[in-house]
Amino acid sequence: MNTKQIVLASRPKGTPTLDNFRFENVELDALQEDEIAVEGLFYSVDPYMRGRMDDAKSYVAPFQIDQPIEGAVVAKVTATKSDNFKKGDIVIGRLNWRHTSITNGNELHKIDTTVAPASYYLGIMGITGLTAYFGLIDIGKPKAGETVVVSGAAGAVGMVVGQIAKIYGCRVIGIAGTDEKVNMLKEEFGFDEVINYKTAKNIKEAITLCCPKGVDIYYDNVGGEISDAVIANINFNARIVLCGQISFYNTNEVPMGPRLQPILLTRSVLMQGFIIGNYEARFPEGMKQLVQWVKEGKLKSTETIIHGFDKLPDALLGLFKGENTGKMIVEI
Ligand SMILES: NC(=O)c1ccc[n+]([C@@H]2O[C@H](COP(=O)([O-])OP(=O)(O)OC[C@H]3O[C@@H](n4cnc5c(N)ncnc54)[C@H](OP(=O)(O)O)[C@@H]3O)[C@@H](O)[C@H]2O)c1
Repeated sequence: MNTKQIVLASRPKGTPTLDNFRFENVELDALQEDEIAVEGLFYSVDPYMRGRMDDAKSYVAPFQIDQPIEGAVVAKVTATKSDNFKKGDIVIGRLNWRHTSITNGNELHKIDTTVAPASYYLGIMGITGLTAYFGLIDIGKPKAGETVVVSGAAGAVGMVVGQIAKIYGCRVIGIAGTDEKVNMLKEEFGFDEVINYKTAKNIKEAITLCCPKGVDIYYDNVGGEISDAVIANINFNARIVLCGQISFYNTNEVPMGPRLQPILLTRSVLMQGFIIGNYEARFPEGMKQLVQWVKEGKLKSTETIIHGFDKLPDALLGLFKGENTGKMIVEI
């Protein structure tokens, strides 16, 4: 059987371009005993994939030149020689960017699409939802009445962080890159205030105005000047959750900024980074809570769905241009 795949053609210098990807047709081996064939339905594109395009040591191995890109995919079992899967099962797991893959299914999990749409398992009921949940609950430790600031607020992780903080009774301030995102977060997702970092004249002052009692929890998805401005407003005993630093992902240079240690020291601030994989043993707990909140209508989702396998590279690059609201997903 012939299938289409997308490989890493070259490593980007700075911001990636479409030239860093190549489309190919490959011949798949015939299905062997205990194997299944799966067809991709929904493909996740995520900021961490940018790091995998570099040949750099990190918590996840780099993509290899001339080898397929790999990521989280929701797929349908189209043929099976395995006792563990039947034709028509909907599964999730890490798969190559291929239309059809042959696998032993060891890394795939069946999902129940009667509970929620299949794409939710890539977002609010998947890794980005769990990232929001564990980062905020475990490191942020929100308490009713506290002020929470979240950057990247209209993205997959950020909008879940804000909603969970509201469930905990916090005052929530988001930071996002367009007026449409600002309005949506306030009108549809219950954020108390949202700052457009691209039009605000002075982000530090905008945060001071929105947070008259200071910032108790900063959930950082972006880093850079936005984070400097938030940390300048940080409270005594505050917690800073280091989830992502997307503003640096396309640069190899370490940017200079204010030295933060005096602020962290004198205000007894905890700043902690984390990788969602650290919490794997607790995923069932997180999923149970997220599903319950979704069912109760306390947690809402929005997605940016791009159509067509050929659009996968565009969708990935779009994350760095703010083209998504909520989880960025490619549907086949
Ligand atoms: N620690 C973990 O285990 C873990 C797991 C998942 C994700 N993450 C991190 O969490 C962050 C959010 O991930 P996500 O999947 O939810 O992505 P996302 O927020 O859905 O998409 C990325 C968003 O980042 C914003 N952005 C892009 N470039 C920016 C820049 N230079 N400065 C400020 N904002 C910028 C854009 O929104 P605007 O329009 O607002 O600019 C864009 O829509 C990322 O940094 C990611 O690496 C970490």
